[in-house]
Amino acid sequence: MKEKTESYAEATQQIIAITQGEQNLIAVMATFSCILATEFPGNIWTGFYIVDKENPNELVVGPYQGTIGCLRILMGKGVCGTAAHTGVTQVVSDVHEFPGHIACDSRSASEIVVPVYNAERRLIAVLDIDNPRIGAFDKTDKIALESLVEQVFGK
Ligand code: SME
Repeated sequence: MKEKTESYAEATQQIIAITQGEQNLIAVMATFSCILATEFPGNIWTGFYIVDKENPNELVVGPYQGTIGCLRILMGKGVCGTAAHTGVTQVVSDVHEFPGHIACDSRSASEIVVPVYNAERRLIAVLDIDNPRIGAFDKTDKIALESLVEQVFGK
């Protein structure tokens, strides 16, 4: 099996090559989710919740790959809302132990959510990835995904 770091390196290279110069955020997020989900087939949900322009206190589902996700999440609620509210990446090794976790798919056991900032350092979305195995995400995922998100959306 490929090492995580190798998979992240490949995904990062592809995502940057394909999305470079594209200004449309939906196109970039859709491509990003597709490549990352393909590279990590064990994850059951890979995608974005976007800060709603009309209602900045809410996240609204964006491009994703996986089973059905809830449409809206209030800032501060669940893992996604906590990452958005605090601006800090959430690595949750067992979602059942996370107070207020929103269960969209009962198979989800662990989760990582990374805040997404634009070049003006404004929070625009969160990247959410779910896995059916407990403890699927660790520091390697946090470092790789924070770097990837920064390279794609923060420049
Ligand atoms: N588990 C998330 C909700 C979103 S879905 O899993 C796609 C949360 O608690 O933020």
